[in-house]
Amino acid sequence: QNNEPITFTDAETGIVFNSWTVPAESGQTQGAFTFGMALPSNALTTDATEFIGYLKCASADNNGWCGLSLAGPMTNSLLITAWPNADTVYTSLRFASGYVMPDVYTGDAEITEIRSSIDADDFTLIFRCRNCLHWNHDGNERAISTTAGFLVLGWVQAFPSPGNPTCPAQITLEQHDNGMGIWGAVLDSNVANPSYSAWAAQATKTVT
Ligand code: HEM
Repeated sequence: QNNEPITFTDAETGIVFNSWTVPAESGQTQGAFTFGMALPSNALTTDATEFIGYLKCASADNNGWCGLSLAGPMTNSLLITAWPNADTVYTSLRFASGYVMPDVYTGDAEITEIRSSIDADDFTLIFRCRNCLHWNHDGNERAISTTAGFLVLGWVQAFPSPGNPTCPAQITLEQHDNGMGIWGAVLDSNVANPSYSAWAAQATKTVT
């Protein structure tokens, strides 16, 4: 997995991301896992509270889920869980105090969709995550610094689909079975973009 970012532009939306990939050839996961991030234009000088995220995760014929930890470990981090069902990619913001099924996050963060697609062996979601870089889960608070130019993030992938997949607040999960890890994500100047506000305004779809 790369630590220095790879910059790419999503062809459909024009959004420019710093990205980090766990390739299938790494042997750490079947399929590949990619996370990309775009930040507000001043995020390298003033800590941002939100980002636009890109997730491309492995799945098998619409089965599977993946997760991102916004501080690295599974515990005491805001967690994003994403999975495909029929023609929709669902998400749920979660928080775990132990290595057990994470609880629904109780803070005021919100995910809205910019675009998603589902293929035979992976799914892609581009989303705005408001209030996701600082969190407060029942008094368990933390802020992530984008001005540090370096984030510690965690990833997981799994093949069994969540139970209750069309109801994000009520999903059930098995322990992930398709790789996990923590990595250091270096940010470069491409991550903060003057077009951020215009891109974020495209995040009009709420999937619930
Ligand atoms: C690691 C259990 C759901 C993210 C782990 C580990 C266990 C575990 C036991 C440590 C394994 C090891 O070190 O060998 C579970 C169970 C879950 C669950 C039982 C649900 C029933 C999730 C979800 C996410 C997540 C929903 C994110 C959205 C991670 C990450 C790691 C991890 C990033 C690696 C970093 C670390 O060890 O803290 N999980 N997990 N997990 N989990 Fe989960």
